[in-house]
Amino acid sequence: MKILVVYYSRTGNTREVAEEIRNNLECDIEEIIDTQNRSGLLNYINSGFQASRKKLTTLENIKNDPANYDLLVIGTPVWASNISTPIRTYINQNQAKFNNVAFFCTAGGSRFDGTFSELTELSGTSPIARIGLKANEVRDGSYKTKIAEFIKKIQI
Ligand SMILES: Cc1cc2nc3c(=O)[nH]c(=O)nc-3n(C[C@H](O)[C@H](O)[C@H](O)COP(=O)(O)O)c2cc1C
Repeated sequence: MKILVVYYSRTGNTREVAEEIRNNLECDIEEIIDTQNRSGLLNYINSGFQASRKKLTTLENIKNDPANYDLLVIGTPVWASNISTPIRTYINQNQAKFNNVAFFCTAGGSRFDGTFSELTELSGTSPIARIGLKANEVRDGSYKTKIAEFIKKIQI
C-alpha cells in the first residue's frame, strides 16, 4: 500500500507526529506550506478567526499528487475548534483525488470530535483510523504509545 503523510504545522507539534508516522511506515511525507505569515500574536488571532469562519488560504505548490497514493494520512492542529486553515485548503483543493484517508490532530486541549467530523465530511470518505493528541503529550514524548496503535491500524 502506498502511503503519503500530509500535514501542516505552525509550531512543530503536528510535524513531530507526522515525522514519527513517516519514520515507522517508511512512507512519503508532504508538509503543507502556507503563504500567509502565521507567527506573532496578531497572526495567531487572525488564524483563529479564519479557522472559525472556515476561510481558505493560498498554499505553496504541493510536491506529491494524492491520486498516486492508496492512503493519505492527514494531520492538522486544531484551531478555534476547527481544522487549521491550510489543511482545510488542501482538502478543498485535492479531495477529488483522495482514495483512503486516516486523520491525526494535535490540540492544546482534548476536544477533537468536531474536527474529526469535519475532516470526514470534507474528505468525502470515512477514515480507516483517527487519533487526537494533546500538545503536552507530543512535547513530552508520551504520545508515542498511542501513535503506535494508530500506526498498527493503518498498516492493515
Ligand atoms: C490559532 C490557533 C487556535 C487554536 N485553537 C485551539 C482550540 O480551539 N483548542 C485547542 O485545544 N487548541 C487550540 N490551539 C492549540 C493548537 O491546536 C496546539 O498547540 C497544536 O498542537 C499546535 O500544533 P502545531 O505545533 O503543529 O502548530 C490553537 C492554536 C492556534 C495557533
